[in-house]
Amino acid sequence: MKQGQTHSSFDFIIFGATGDLTKRKLLPALFYRYLDQEIPSKTRIIGAARSQLSNEEFRAQARDGLNQFVQEPDRNPEKIEAFLQQIFYISLNGAEAESNWPALLNLLSSDPQNDIRIFYLATSPKLYGAICDNLSNEGLITENSRVVLEKPIGTSLATAQDINNSVGKHFPENHIFRIDHYLGKETVQNIIALRFANPVFERLWNSDVIDYVQITAAETVGIGNRGGYYDGAGALRDMVQNHLLQVLCMVAMDPPISLEADDLRNEKLKILRSLSPMSEEDIRLNTVRGQYDAGMEGNKPVSSYLEDLKKENSNTETYVAICAHVNTSRWSSVPFYLRTGKRMAEKTSEVVIQFKRSAWSLFPTMPEPNRLHIRIQPDEGVSLSLQVKDPSKSHDSLRSTFIDIDFSPAFHIRYPDAYEGLLMDVVEGDPLLFIRNDEVEAAWRWVEPILKGWSKGLVPLSHYKSGSWGPNEANKLLAKNGHLWHEVMP
Ligand code: BG6
Repeated sequence: MKQGQTHSSFDFIIFGATGDLTKRKLLPALFYRYLDQEIPSKTRIIGAARSQLSNEEFRAQARDGLNQFVQEPDRNPEKIEAFLQQIFYISLNGAEAESNWPALLNLLSSDPQNDIRIFYLATSPKLYGAICDNLSNEGLITENSRVVLEKPIGTSLATAQDINNSVGKHFPENHIFRIDHYLGKETVQNIIALRFANPVFERLWNSDVIDYVQITAAETVGIGNRGGYYDGAGALRDMVQNHLLQVLCMVAMDPPISLEADDLRNEKLKILRSLSPMSEEDIRLNTVRGQYDAGMEGNKPVSSYLEDLKKENSNTETYVAICAHVNTSRWSSVPFYLRTGKRMAEKTSEVVIQFKRSAWSLFPTMPEPNRLHIRIQPDEGVSLSLQVKDPSKSHDSLRSTFIDIDFSPAFHIRYPDAYEGLLMDVVEGDPLLFIRNDEVEAAWRWVEPILKGWSKGLVPLSHYKSGSWGPNEANKLLAKNGHLWHEVMP
């Protein structure tokens, strides 16, 4: 969806509004869209949560969040105050039938035929079904209503199916927006353009030419104050089941027949269903799990996961590496290495496509294989490694260099946060960048045996120092195939 577009009027109701997501992501994203005049003046942003707060108290929290999470040049105090006037709060337990529902109805637009209602569920996923039952019993779901579900959609296949069924009783599938903010990142969407608008790549996008693929989402931060959620989830559920598998789909899928939502989602689904199921032996050989010990975050000494969690023991992984295979003719025998971790050496999300070495060489040394590096964040961009003649040496000497494009300076733009575009897509009712129910379930089908294998103790928990690139077992995982992680590639 294009920025700066005019939208229909809408009400935006956030359940679980006092949580971190509202402050860090949702309100700053809506504020940026407000600055671009995409939030009509009639629109009300309504926070709903159990705490007893007045509108003013909630606005004070919102102001605080905007001052922290909106970038300096856009932090105009008058504009912030004007935006806050469109924000309201009601104390409401969405999971209880006997709660303050009349107050919500009073705040909603009096033109439900025309105005859009967006119910954004940022609560525990366990409450999604009950909230939707109550919205329905209160008669709040209109033809123009949409529901947004934050991840995680469940903690297993069965719980994801329960959520899909309980929400699906009240909303048609095309009004259910399961958000995965990785799909909202410009550079993840750009994978489609890069692949399908550049025949030079599309023709090479297969196992004849590609040796292996790496998908990394590394963070420098620890679990912060999210231990309560994180310790029950772990990195596999928190990052791999959703973000990393979605990126893998974008890299591996066949061209969709159009850029319509279901055509794209059908292709992604095919990939999720083509992932080779992991047997116990595969889990033992092809997965690594780790937990961070004390170490450094930049220049700052930081404590271990257990200290952050204030617990003596935990078997939860803060790092995962997996060697996956996509069982299609295009990808037969190409390893897809996935990894994610907290407290890693760098904050970086990237895709690395390592091309095969040539079988012979005209030169005295074997040329280094080409490599395409897609930088999802930060420093959004793409680079392609090339071999050129070393200008300081004789005619048969080679040197590695890069063609490198840094998108932000090249296009003179601020890279918007993923939520900005996604929230406006919900307003427009465009589900292209949202996950369909069958995708969520297919992802769980692949992930669940790994979780089960781990809970049987098939893969011991390794430890890694905060500020490192993860446990050594992850290097061994690639070394078995003669491969290297990106940061140690020549
Ligand atoms: C969220 C996870 O979905 O993604 C967090 O729950 C993680 O644990 C975050 O920190 C990472 O997002 P990004 O956009 O910073 O890579």
